[in-house]
Amino acid sequence: MMLHDKVAVVTGASRGLGAHFAHQLIDRGAHVFGLARSQDALNDLHDELGERFHPVVCDVTNEQAVTDAFTHVTDTAGQLDVLINNAGFGQFGAVDELSTEAWDQQQATNVRGVFLCSRAAVAPMKAQNKAEGFGGHIVNIASIAGLVGNPNISAYNTSKYAVRGFSQALMKELRDDGIKVTCIYPGSTETNFSNVAGSSIAPNPMQPEDVAGTVLHVIEGPDNYLISEVVMRPLRPRG
Ligand SMILES: NC(=O)c1ccc[n+]([C@@H]2O[C@H](COP(=O)([O-])OP(=O)(O)OC[C@H]3O[C@@H](n4cnc5c(N)ncnc54)[C@H](OP(=O)(O)O)[C@@H]3O)[C@@H](O)[C@H]2O)c1
Repeated sequence: MMLHDKVAVVTGASRGLGAHFAHQLIDRGAHVFGLARSQDALNDLHDELGERFHPVVCDVTNEQAVTDAFTHVTDTAGQLDVLINNAGFGQFGAVDELSTEAWDQQQATNVRGVFLCSRAAVAPMKAQNKAEGFGGHIVNIASIAGLVGNPNISAYNTSKYAVRGFSQALMKELRDDGIKVTCIYPGSTETNFSNVAGSSIAPNPMQPEDVAGTVLHVIEGPDNYLISEVVMRPLRPRG
């Protein structure tokens, strides 16, 4: 997809990977509606990126907020070409010490949020496919934790395995509607993720701009060419 004047929604845009996706989409001439809960951080990003960045305060676990956000996008921009489901966090801890609330919040953000945003994007993308012959592209940010289970991250593993299953199903469900679905599996990346999770990051993580560069490459592929999955790792995680 040529990104100039295309319209993208990036969830979790207020910092980390999401802010880098927004940056690189705007560098290529796209308009980006950036969703997150932190209004101040979104406004700061608007100051940095300019008028092509549209801040939208939205908690992706909240069904009405997601509906309102996507209605705002389609009413304002009249199109929706790219959705990057990136909002997420790591709820780490031993299974016998995980509260039910912590488990539910992990699945609500990382799984329900992906479902709600994807569902909201599919209707306008299907309409675009009917009108123009190409619907759009949904990119889901899973994790290597969606491919390999590990101790003390069972809630996070569960959420990212779910994103993987959802992505594979949607990829086959939507391809004949001209909608691409790609699932991305990054390893350790230098963002605020490990601070939120209360974990330590690999000593030599990937850089978020490199992960974003690969995702942009995937989105920019020819229309009849779908990269459905990408796994990314630091070459020397321990340095
Ligand atoms: N960094 C890594 O090592 C790594 C590796 C593999 C996969 N990932 C995945 O990459 C994605 C982005 O993480 P990151 O590394 O960039 O972490 P980050 O720096 O902590 O950013 C997380 C983003 O998600 C947003 N967010 C969290 N809960 C939200 C909610 N309920 N509604 C809307 N936005 C929400 C946050 O914004 P607000 O707080 O303002 O809402 C923030 O913008 C996540 O899905 C994560 O699982 C990260």
